Amino acid sequence: MMSGAGCRHILIPGIIALVFITMAQRCLSVGVNWGTMASHQLSAESVVKMLKENGFDKVKLFEADEKILNALIGSDIEVMLAIPNYMLQDMSTDPGMAASWIDANVSAYAYTRGVKIRYVAVGNEPFLQTYNGTYLHSTFPALRNVQEAINHAGLGPEVKAVVPLNADIYYSPDSNPVPSAGDFRPEIRDLAIQIVQYLDSNDAPFVVNIYPFLSLYENDYFPLEYAFFNGSNKPMKDGEYLYTNVFDANFDTLAWSLKKAGFPNMKIIVGEVGWPTDGDKNANIDNAKRFNQGLIQHALSGEGTPARKGKIDVCLFSLIDENSKSIAPGNFERHWGIFEFDGKPKYELDLSGQKKHKSLVAIQGVNYMHKRWCILKPHPQKDAQTYLAKSVDYACSLSDCTALGYGSSCNHLNAQGNASYAFNMYYQFKNQNSLDCDFEGLATVTYKDPSDDKCHFPLMIADGRRVMLLHKNLVYIILAILQGFLVVLLLVS
Ligand SMILES: *[C@@H]1O[C@H](CO)[C@@H](O)[C@H](O)[C@H]1NC(C)=O
Ligand SMILES: *[C@@H]1O[C@H](CO)[C@@H](O)[C@H](O)[C@H]1NC(C)=O
Ligand SMILES: *[C@@H]1O[C@H](CO)[C@@H](O)[C@H](O)[C@H]1NC(C)=O
Ligand SMILES: *[C@@H]1O[C@H](CO)[C@@H](O)[C@H](O)[C@H]1NC(C)=O
Repeated sequence: MMSGAGCRHILIPGIIALVFITMAQRCLSVGVNWGTMASHQLSAESVVKMLKENGFDKVKLFEADEKILNALIGSDIEVMLAIPNYMLQDMSTDPGMAASWIDANVSAYAYTRGVKIRYVAVGNEPFLQTYNGTYLHSTFPALRNVQEAINHAGLGPEVKAVVPLNADIYYSPDSNPVPSAGDFRPEIRDLAIQIVQYLDSNDAPFVVNIYPFLSLYENDYFPLEYAFFNGSNKPMKDGEYLYTNVFDANFDTLAWSLKKAGFPNMKIIVGEVGWPTDGDKNANIDNAKRFNQGLIQHALSGEGTPARKGKIDVCLFSLIDENSKSIAPGNFERHWGIFEFDGKPKYELDLSGQKKHKSLVAIQGVNYMHKRWCILKPHPQKDAQTYLAKSVDYACSLSDCTALGYGSSCNHLNAQGNASYAFNMYYQFKNQNSLDCDFEGLATVTYKDPSDDKCHFPLMIADGRRVMLLHKNLVYIILAILQGFLVVLLLVS
């Protein structure tokens, strides 16, 4: 996602060659998107530690979360920090608001050994069609106000305002579906070019999100192999260029669109790209590993795309599963992580792109809730059916049942297993509160893990605060008992 990561620190004399090699690889790594829409959060410190252990040196954040920014202080990790879409309107009309946002969330960390914020993302995919044009008029003025605030704070040379855009703002016509025929969509072309001109005048890159998985998801006739990087299917010909994967074709469609607008050398950063592991028939560990490993090798190899040579800046989507994301796009939306919600790697991934069998380092020291699960009673009462469907729907609507859907990891469960899965997810989301494992008497707590080899019944993370709360409650109970004793003593005497 970002280039120019300092490799200065490797030039310390006297370090053995091995260290040189390891560090040099680190500087080649890809970036990663760190979203936090999860019911139970890992501590920001433990995630930053894990990022460093895995050699990630670039991270993209969707919010200026104070806990995360504080955890990143002194880490040397480059950051792209986003201003959420709902702030664009105010930022576009009120330069003072942009200035105070930059002061509080960027300048405050911009000291030596502070946080290396390199980009401020103004919104996230603001021109997505599902937003019905809500942000069409505010995005560009907001971009200008934010960059001006950055310049005013004296950070202009090192911090660039950008706009991460969805790939469907450009296209190739059906009559000639090749990258060289690409251009921005007519309805958005003028605005896109104004933004590009402004970015270019600031020496800022074009940030785009590219999702081969969605190409496959949205089109039943899409050739599976064309979504990956070592596919054997017959390449697409575009003049002298051959395309063997949709990522390159999409990237080059943008490159051509920029060229036609008069910006042939504008830097492109792929702000989001990845593959989910659950929630759809094509979302599984094998495909995700194949895609992400292929992508990393391709991006870091320097071979580039047919139309643009050189290393490709990519930022994986995403770091950790987020069980509270909207599933409007599809059930897969909560399963993009290369790590599970609890910081366990899902599959082997070599971030240096050198085809090594390398496991990612897990987050250490995660505390889980007690080993107890909520399931459907083995022999529910006779009138159970009346409540069962309703209870399952209720449980799922307030937790996460995306693993139950067609093509997902728990889809093979029978009706009984389905209900247990739903009840358990609700119970875990509710921090195992005993009142939340009832469902009209249909449910019961078990101490035996109901998981099978495909379907995992998770236990949520117990965070420090919750443990403290428990201790606090314990103190109250003890105090209450002591008080009781005192009252009894007083009465007796
Ligand atoms: C800093 O960013 C957060 C998250 O976007 C926002 O809620 C807060 O208002 C910002 N601070 C200022 C002073 O604008
Ligand atoms: C966009 O429009 C559709 C149909 O008019 C509507 O269902 C949807 O809620 C709108 N979305 C937003 C974000 O306004
Ligand atoms: C591509 O790589 C995957 C593993 O990453 C392998 O299973 C598959 O056979 C390869 N396909 C081709 C056409 O080389
Ligand atoms: C379990 O639930 C999923 C999702 O609600 C559904 O697709 C599936 O058919 C259910 N299976 C049974 C056996 O009820």
